[in-house]
Amino acid sequence: MRPFLKWAGGKTQLLDELLARTPETFGTYHEPFLGGGALFFRLKLLGRIRRARLSDVNPELINAWKAVRDTPYDLVAALEKLENRLAEEDYYEIRGLDPDEMLPAERAARLLYLNKTCFNGLYRENSKGRFNVPYGRYARPKVLDRALLLNVSKALEGVDLQAQPFLKIVKNARPGDFVYFDPPYHPVSTTSRFTSYSRSGFGEQEQRVLAQVFAELAERGVHVLLSNSDTPLIRELYEGKGFEITRIEAARAINSKGDKRGPVGELLVRAAGQIAAKSDETGAAESQLGIDFKQTVKVA
Ligand SMILES: C[S@@+](CC[C@H](N)C(=O)[O-])C[C@H]1O[C@@H](n2cnc3c(N)ncnc32)[C@H](O)[C@@H]1O
Repeated sequence: MRPFLKWAGGKTQLLDELLARTPETFGTYHEPFLGGGALFFRLKLLGRIRRARLSDVNPELINAWKAVRDTPYDLVAALEKLENRLAEEDYYEIRGLDPDEMLPAERAARLLYLNKTCFNGLYRENSKGRFNVPYGRYARPKVLDRALLLNVSKALEGVDLQAQPFLKIVKNARPGDFVYFDPPYHPVSTTSRFTSYSRSGFGEQEQRVLAQVFAELAERGVHVLLSNSDTPLIRELYEGKGFEITRIEAARAINSKGDKRGPVGELLVRAAGQIAAKSDETGAAESQLGIDFKQTVKVA
C-alpha cells in the first residue's frame, strides 16, 4: 500500500524515522495535514491503525480521497477517459475545467490526472483559487493505477475524512490517541517558499498556533509527533518544553530552486502522551489556550 498522490513534502523518505517514534498502541490515528498521507498508508499496511481521522484544509484534495473511498469504480471510469490525454494541449484543457461544475468522481479524476501530469506533482492555486501548475513533460505518466486505487479504497473503509483546518484537532483528539502533524514547512530562507499549498498560506502566526495546539494535546495525554524544518523559529517554539527533539538530515525532493536540492535539516518533535499533568478524561474539553482561533487563523 502506498500513496495514490505525489504530494509536495511527502514523507516517504522519513517513514522509518517516523515509525520509530510512533507509539506501540494508540486509540484513533489523526493526520490533520494529510497531503498524500504517507505515514497513514505505512501504518495501515503494518496493521497498526484501528480508527483513523484524516483531514486537510484543501477541499479538492479531500474530495479526491473521498472519491477513492466511496466511489472507486466511478473514479476509475473517469480516469479511463483521461489516461491517454497526455499531450500538452490536453493538459491545459483539463486544467481549465471548472471543478465546481463537475461530479465528485470526475472532479477527483481531474485532480489525480493533474497530479500525475503537472510539473513535479505540485499543488498550487492562483489568487482566484484555480490550479495553476504548468505541464510536467513526462514521457508516460501513469495516470490510472487501477489496482492501487481499489486497494486504497478498501483500506479507507470506515476512515473519517474531513476538509477542515488543523485547529479542529483540538476538540477531536482524546487521551491515548496519536496525532501526526506534517504542516507546510517553515521556510529555511526567504527564497525557499514552498509553503503555499492552498489559498490560506501558512506563515509564522500559524506555526505559533500549531505549537500551542501541540503543547495542549501533549498536556492532555495525546501522543503527538510533528515534522518541520530546522529553523530558529521552530526551535524557539518547541525547545525547552519537555518534548523530545531530533534533527534528521533529509534530502528534500521539492525545492524552489532545482540547484538548491540537497540535504536539509528537519526536526522531529515528539511528546509521548505522558506529559499529562492535567489529564482530561473526556478529551473533549474546550481549548485551554484562551485563543479565539477563528480570529487568529484565516482559513480558505
Ligand atoms: C507537508 S504537506 C503534508 C504531506 C503529507 N504528510 C504527505 O505525506 O504527503 C502539508 C499539507 O498541509 C495542508 N494545509 C495547509 N494549511 C493547513 C491548515 N491550516 N490546516 C490543515 N491543513 C493545512 C496542505 O493542504 C498540505 O496538504
